[in-house]
Amino acid sequence: MVTMVPVLLSLPLLLGPAVPQETQVGPYSLAFLYTGVSRPSKGLPRFQATAFLNDKAFFHYDSEGRKAEPLGPWSQVEGMEDWEKESQLQKAREEIFLVTLKDIMDYHKDSKGSHTFQGMFGCEIQNNRSTGAFWRYAYDGQDFIEFNKEIPAWVPLDPAALNTKKKWEAEKVYVQRAKAYLEEECPEMLQRYLNYSRTHLDQRDPPSVSVTSHVAPGRNTTLKCLAYDFYPQRIGLHWTRAGEVQESEAGGEILPNGSGTYQSWVVVGVPPQDRAPYSCLVEHSGLAQPLTVSWNGRQ
Ligand SMILES: *[C@@H]1O[C@H](CO)[C@@H](O)[C@H](O)[C@H]1NC(C)=O
Ligand SMILES: *[C@@H]1O[C@H](CO)[C@@H](O)[C@H](O)[C@H]1NC(C)=O
Ligand SMILES: *[C@@H]1O[C@H](CO)[C@@H](O)[C@H](O)[C@H]1NC(C)=O
Ligand SMILES: *[C@@H]1O[C@H](CO)[C@@H](O)[C@H](O)[C@H]1NC(C)=O
Repeated sequence: MVTMVPVLLSLPLLLGPAVPQETQVGPYSLAFLYTGVSRPSKGLPRFQATAFLNDKAFFHYDSEGRKAEPLGPWSQVEGMEDWEKESQLQKAREEIFLVTLKDIMDYHKDSKGSHTFQGMFGCEIQNNRSTGAFWRYAYDGQDFIEFNKEIPAWVPLDPAALNTKKKWEAEKVYVQRAKAYLEEECPEMLQRYLNYSRTHLDQRDPPSVSVTSHVAPGRNTTLKCLAYDFYPQRIGLHWTRAGEVQESEAGGEILPNGSGTYQSWVVVGVPPQDRAPYSCLVEHSGLAQPLTVSWNGRQ
């Protein structure tokens, strides 16, 4: 059974254009989210790990079942991973992870209550090249430590993390290993997984777009542009005034819209005397070209 815990760290949207050019492939990402809880409430595992391909959960492991199990369409794919070996790997990581949680609690003398430690790491590739990677941890929802692969070193984001840094950098080779994991192993793994996953990850649902306005006499007219039912998550959504992109007054978040799709909206205020043409500009990889929806509400 998959038990979801509140995600304190959210999956980052790595940098990249909203609309891949035709010759480009991807971007694709592989990411792992680990959560450890010192005193799990009933029914909640002490440790759980979820792997994601792009934004889709691809396998899950927890301290109750102690088995890495493929999810969704990946449970039907043969030969993609040796799940027995993956379970052993996750078991080993669980141990290290929970030791780190205990160390931090000892440092803070946090013996009371329940504490949460989360880790997240992963990589991105585009056109078969590594284009990004990250590795960071949070303690009780606060940034704790992150890996900088350019130095390379663990960078503490909390005083208590100095101890963790010391431990994780006790030998120089540990740092080199972390760097190699992000820059080589992870992209290679992703490349291999892609061989089995492209059809699921290349799904493209173009956004439906609706433009609505709210007019109040003597006040700004509020224009709202809503894009919905789209996949993947990455989208460019803007109001333009006479062709110039306007800063949105509200919205901008990308929210789940059911069945694995997303929605987002942006808002702009139009002063009563303004006669310039306003349009909503939508860029998405499911659209052959950017979509422009003009606002015709003003007669
Ligand atoms: C991607 O790169 C790997 C090694 O870097 C290579 O083995 C593989 O053939 C490449 N795949 C494509 C589709 O170019
Ligand atoms: C890609 O997947 C096919 C099966 O779908 C498999 O036969 C082949 O060996 C895989 N190639 C790589 C490089 O993993
Ligand atoms: C997505 O959002 C739109 C607008 O909020 C809504 O009309 C639509 O029913 C939603 N789709 C699903 C599958 O929930
Ligand atoms: C009206 O809209 C203009 C242009 O978007 C903005 O600069 C201004 O602050 C808005 N005024 C109010 C009262 O919201």
